[in-house]
Amino acid sequence: MNILEIIEKKKNKENLTYEELDYAFNGYLKQEIPDYQMSALLMAICLNELNEEEIFNLTEIFIKSGEVIDLSKLDGIFIDKHSTGGVGDKTTLVIGPIVAACGLKMPKMSGRGLGLTGGTIDKLESIPGFNVYLTEEEFWQGLKEVGFIDVAQNEKLVPLDKVIYALRDVTGTTESLGLIAVSIMSKKIASGTKNILIDIKYGNGALIKTKEKALEFAEIIKNIGQKYQVKVLPIIDDMNTPLGNNIGNALEVKEAMDILQGKQGKLTDLCLDLSAKLINLACDISYEEAKQKCLDVINNNQAYQKFLDFVKFQKGDITKLKISPYSLEVKANEEGILTEINAHKIALLARSLGCFRQTKDDKIDYSVGIVLNKNIGDYININDTLCTLYISNPNFYLNEKDLECFKIEGGKL
Ligand code: URA
Repeated sequence: MNILEIIEKKKNKENLTYEELDYAFNGYLKQEIPDYQMSALLMAICLNELNEEEIFNLTEIFIKSGEVIDLSKLDGIFIDKHSTGGVGDKTTLVIGPIVAACGLKMPKMSGRGLGLTGGTIDKLESIPGFNVYLTEEEFWQGLKEVGFIDVAQNEKLVPLDKVIYALRDVTGTTESLGLIAVSIMSKKIASGTKNILIDIKYGNGALIKTKEKALEFAEIIKNIGQKYQVKVLPIIDDMNTPLGNNIGNALEVKEAMDILQGKQGKLTDLCLDLSAKLINLACDISYEEAKQKCLDVINNNQAYQKFLDFVKFQKGDITKLKISPYSLEVKANEEGILTEINAHKIALLARSLGCFRQTKDDKIDYSVGIVLNKNIGDYININDTLCTLYISNPNFYLNEKDLECFKIEGGKL
């Protein structure tokens, strides 16, 4: 087999066989195929997509690149959730502790940032000491003692996703529905859970841009789930506006903690809704009952305590979470109603602050980010602070373009 012929084939919109996909992807994992050839193949896939059979085959190849966890070793009801990625999406950090406080178990495998969407693993690593690479023994112990753990893909679990994900992040090849489905579903199936909620985000701040594509994606993942006897619940959600008020790794951890301590708002409502849907999916109780349970564990502080136990178990020191002490306020230069906070433009601004990688070896600045001080629908006066930038580069200067993240309409009332 020849990698050049495989790249050419996909470039010419032909379908690849199991053997060809296996040769190319496992060849890359074994470092027999260099970055530049895999990047070319990923780009050809992004432009011409994978058909259903190729997606099934590649999912199987990804799963087989590592081990599959057998959760039957431990008693309990296991659930999992995953988001296709968005701006400010820190729902895992809220949902994990809520469902664990409700008595379920969530063995989560997450990713790092991908393109302009943040990743839970990067957010967790903003907590000094936090270990996303648990040993097998720690994995089981964490599930038993805490009920929620979150680990990165590694040499044992879906190693192919680890290397392909890192390459997609920096080669503009994040948006193929097939590659997203393979990446997410291989991780979920390898984690062993039989009840999975997939939060499909679409819009300018998501990897999936339109509702039609989101619906197509929902079908793909349901079909993969069926093949592996896994219940998949797809939820389709708009991502044209960032989720919550904080964007940036440490800032997002802080916002998740605020929600677990009772902060109200749209993000809180979403996390409660998704948690209740997950519990309803896996247990024999109604959505309403499940939602009440979720509210109870927030109100009685059990969910927040779970978060602290989870961080402590994975060796993080939450008291050392660092948000940059340097900040800059972005002020409104017109009056009216705030009608848009553009998630894509906010993500570009977050990238210019250092929240994401631009090459594989880039170090993320965990302490920087953006806090949105206003919400859609708010009345804005001239000089009101629209958002606060937490910066670490003293030479960072604000650009007129940064104000384009916000649309203010209607003028003075
Ligand atoms: N999350 C993943 O794990 N993989 C993707 O490709 C996108 C979101």
